[in-house]
Amino acid sequence: MKKDFRPVLATALLLSCFQIYAAPAVSTGHGGAVATVSEQASQAALQILDKGGNAIDAAVAAAATLGVTDPFSCGIGGGGFMLIYSAKDDKVISIDHRETAPAYFTPSVFLADGVALEWEAAVPNGISVGVPGTVLGWQEALTRYGTMNFEQLLAPAIKVADDGFAVSENFNRISKINEKKFARFESAQQLYLTDGKAHAVGSHFSNPDLANTYRLLTQGGAKAFYEGELAKEIVAAVNQPPITEGTQVLSGQMSLNDLKDYEVRLRQPIHSTYRGYDVYGMAPPSSGGIAIAQALNMLETFDLANLPRAEVEHLYLQASRLAFADRNAYVADSEYTDVPTMGLLSKDYAKHRAKLMSGQALSKSEPGDPFVYQEDPSVPLRPASATLSPESLHTTHLAVSDREGNVVAYTFTIEDWGGSGIVVPGRGFLLNNEMTDFDFSAPHPNVAEAFKRPRSSMSPTIVLKDNKPAFTIGSPGGSTIITTVLQTMVNHIDLGMSLSEAIDAPRLSQRNGDTTLVETMLAFPNSEQAKALAAKGHKFAETDQIGAANGIVFNADGTVTAVSESKRHGVGTALVQKQ
Ligand code: GLY
Repeated sequence: MKKDFRPVLATALLLSCFQIYAAPAVSTGHGGAVATVSEQASQAALQILDKGGNAIDAAVAAAATLGVTDPFSCGIGGGGFMLIYSAKDDKVISIDHRETAPAYFTPSVFLADGVALEWEAAVPNGISVGVPGTVLGWQEALTRYGTMNFEQLLAPAIKVADDGFAVSENFNRISKINEKKFARFESAQQLYLTDGKAHAVGSHFSNPDLANTYRLLTQGGAKAFYEGELAKEIVAAVNQPPITEGTQVLSGQMSLNDLKDYEVRLRQPIHSTYRGYDVYGMAPPSSGGIAIAQALNMLETFDLANLPRAEVEHLYLQASRLAFADRNAYVADSEYTDVPTMGLLSKDYAKHRAKLMSGQALSKSEPGDPFVYQEDPSVPLRPASATLSPESLHTTHLAVSDREGNVVAYTFTIEDWGGSGIVVPGRGFLLNNEMTDFDFSAPHPNVAEAFKRPRSSMSPTIVLKDNKPAFTIGSPGGSTIITTVLQTMVNHIDLGMSLSEAIDAPRLSQRNGDTTLVETMLAFPNSEQAKALAAKGHKFAETDQIGAANGIVFNADGTVTAVSESKRHGVGTALVQKQ
């Protein structure tokens, strides 16, 4: 049969046009800056900065727009962590608006006949849905640190949702992965599939239901989400999911009170130091801040700047493995379990653990004993299971700064790509499956409990030098978030790469598993780098791409450089104000 090359040519033409007009993944200038994975979201943030909004305002505008253009990674049906450097207060604050377990949750919620469900089987169901935190998180951030309201900040997102956009390769790729999940629910099928298939690349997609939901928030604020008609519809979607014929589902038992009682937490960020930098990260229930600080503390015991790249990467993988051994054993929601934070962050503990790092690649490692380094030695916990439970690789991260010197590093999510797969009927947004970030069997610090927040890996990070922002970085990617942020920091600080080189470099992710995950998209498996690491005993598993980082560097000459991905996740958009 003769092959028809027309679709291929059409795609090539489309791509070359896209490349000609593509928004930049790196921009430098004197104004406020933004980096996200979505051109529309970055433009929304820039528009708000140009209207006089600050970084917090612009972050909310970008996040709301990402909920339209990147709906499989994030949105108002999920939750997140926002880290803010407030220039006026000269301090870093974190706003935890992680999804919370409803009141009916018990440690056995993910057991069937006493046996833990497979992670994949638990995801596309009402039971995987936690009480969303995003809307209250935005409101809290704006009330405390913003200057604008929902009406002003959701306007760009409403326009994008109403006007729509051409489906990108990336949007199509992720919807394709979700075809089976979306086919389980009437509302998801109607919004995200055409005849059971992902919308074609180049076809027009709009989401007027989401535009109207955002309009509701502009009128009623967060209360319009957590109480009233919309709250009832969320509860109905969780408890009686809108399944298609023949679908079996595990329904949730969320109550209206679960929504009404949802609270945002202002948390002290994790603070550590690394080679003269002050590093601020997210505290529990995220494990990101502690794991990154701990790995950096171990790496600080080596003179990385004077070692060959392969040796630096070898040590980075060793440190990451050891940090994950502890993270998997000890870190969970600190309102429910005594996380030995002080011990884990101790430089002496790091020195002790770093002794394991020289020599050949470590194999799966046992957690250490940070309790010896706690000032409160009465904490009775000792190593729990050090296994890594399955987590998906999705979520989104954005970075914004403004002329006043405020910085926002914001990671938010609906967990898996496409979350639970349940679109709230008529409302245009997907509900999260964040509850599958709990460990399914007890005893474990991260086991499911009522009102608890599941352990996260989200790692929005702000780094200061001499009390001024030096750079900010974050990424999506489940537990690979931690390794992406850590590796980018090592690339930038120790290997002397610019932030864009550090983000573009091939990623390696070691989370105390049998193998290290590497990227085929960046041709890593056959590279000289890979051979050098293999000679040290590292074994690889391949994946297309890892993470989708966004960051901003504050340059010594007073300019800022916003940096997004130039290759991964369909390419991001970094912009700096001109006027
Ligand atoms: N669901 C991804 C994370 O919280 O790390």
